[in-house]
Amino acid sequence: DKAGHKHYMAKEIAEQPVVVAEAIRSCLPAASDRICLPGEDLDFSKLDRLTMVACGTAFYACLTAKYWFERLAKMPVEVDIASEFRYREPPIPERSLALFVSQSGETADTLAALRYCEGKADKIVSVVNVPESSIARESDLALPIHAGVEIGVASTKAFTCQLAVLLMLALKAAADRGTLTDEELADHAAALRGLPSALNTALEQDNSIRVAAQRLSEARDVLFLGRGLMYPLAMEGALKLKEISYIHAEGYASGELKHGPIALIDKNMPVVVMAPRDVLFDKTVSNMQEVMARKGKVILVSDDEGIAEAQDGVWATIRMPYVHPSLTPILYAVPAQLLAYHTAVAKGTDVDQPRNLAKSVTVE
Ligand code: M6R
Repeated sequence: DKAGHKHYMAKEIAEQPVVVAEAIRSCLPAASDRICLPGEDLDFSKLDRLTMVACGTAFYACLTAKYWFERLAKMPVEVDIASEFRYREPPIPERSLALFVSQSGETADTLAALRYCEGKADKIVSVVNVPESSIARESDLALPIHAGVEIGVASTKAFTCQLAVLLMLALKAAADRGTLTDEELADHAAALRGLPSALNTALEQDNSIRVAAQRLSEARDVLFLGRGLMYPLAMEGALKLKEISYIHAEGYASGELKHGPIALIDKNMPVVVMAPRDVLFDKTVSNMQEVMARKGKVILVSDDEGIAEAQDGVWATIRMPYVHPSLTPILYAVPAQLLAYHTAVAKGTDVDQPRNLAKSVTVE
């Protein structure tokens, strides 16, 4: 049942305000600013490091969470794709938490990586959408993301729900380790409660995103750029676009531009710049200007302030509401998904069942 939408992917994108609210409620009780995990409680003050492993979109959720755990909880984090991790024989130091993220809970490489950590890590925790899945069953603690069934092969609502749960896990770690003040924790709690309404506002930008996507659908290659929390999201935006529109896309850290990819820029190269008006904004804008100086066509995704400051000469803008800087990857996922979706629709490709791809990769 597509609930009036043309594709499951469109329905699942539109569901995000509701399911993300559900995910937030599962760890943030209404009357409190403190994160309270369902099931067995974890004590991050007894843990020194975190190893996160996943594949595809779930891997990008882990890369995003690395920024949160490092900045908010001051915890060293290693992140890897499961197919590399499992064969590398990585040492797992004492007092380590191993964290596996998987929508299906059945991804073969992620499950093998989990089994590798059994008996080595202090605790095995998973963040899953299917509580009965193999990965959930083999973990000491399985945290559900509450996204509901996801049918589109391109993961959308599972990604934002994974991010919401991972951010709350990082806040729990920060509280246990005393690395954020009560005020900072309360700010994050308030911001999380406001997130569903910001996601609704992002969805209302559908028209301007469709116009930008119409232009993208003519491109052969597309570059996505971002810094900090927007860097993993740039890679996720590129993955979404290549999966369903078959346009070649790459996500890069803006600061890497001059170390190679700038050679690709010409008038035929659209560049999607994810740039909320945060502490890294000026740096990203200067990279964006380097792109425009070489006639690259910029689609700037930013908030009111960012767009007012940097829109001169850009090809298109996509306007996001302002949110707390920790929450930008969850919000900016929406335009990344909608850009891919409308580009695929403009090209007439099979959005829900892209060629060569399976929803759940149960063989390596
Ligand atoms: O079920 P999982 O989260 O373990 O799946 C991981 C990847 O196969 C998955 O995210 C894949 O990259 C998606 N098609 C991305 O849209």
